[in-house]
Amino acid sequence: MATTVGTETTLEDLLEDLIALDYDAADAYQAAIDRLEYTHFKQTLREFKGDHLRHVEELGEILSGMGRTPPKEGDMKSLLTKGKVVIAGMMGDKAILEAMRTNEADTNTAYKRAVAHEGVPSTTLNALRRGLQDERRHCEWILDAQKRL
Ligand SMILES: [Fe+2]
Ligand SMILES: [Fe+2]
Repeated sequence: MATTVGTETTLEDLLEDLIALDYDAADAYQAAIDRLEYTHFKQTLREFKGDHLRHVEELGEILSGMGRTPPKEGDMKSLLTKGKVVIAGMMGDKAILEAMRTNEADTNTAYKRAVAHEGVPSTTLNALRRGLQDERRHCEWILDAQKRL
């Protein structure tokens, strides 16, 4: 199912859900790293996992500054994110990459909505734009990796 992250009314709710999604994405990357047989991909996946954890930090600081305690982990919905990869792992590397591609389609959708959210202060908007650039890069790399596998 496609994500609803990014459609929240308030910026606080949006940031909270984005942080949870980034945690979930990081967990999904770890699940993929643990299961991929083609080891050449693993270093890049570790970097992407690190990008997601950096987003968690950056967005968490912004949310704290707004007086809201950031989430410390993903939410239940996102068991989907990691669960997809775990199940795909039983079918091999192609299935894992496809599961990761769909996860990154969701992060791209969520960040695209976030940068279009109304009334976002400029420093926050810049952080969201940098995040979107990372998510686009992740998605493009996976699409390319799928051709190489
Ligand atoms: Fe992110
Ligand atoms: Fe990503």
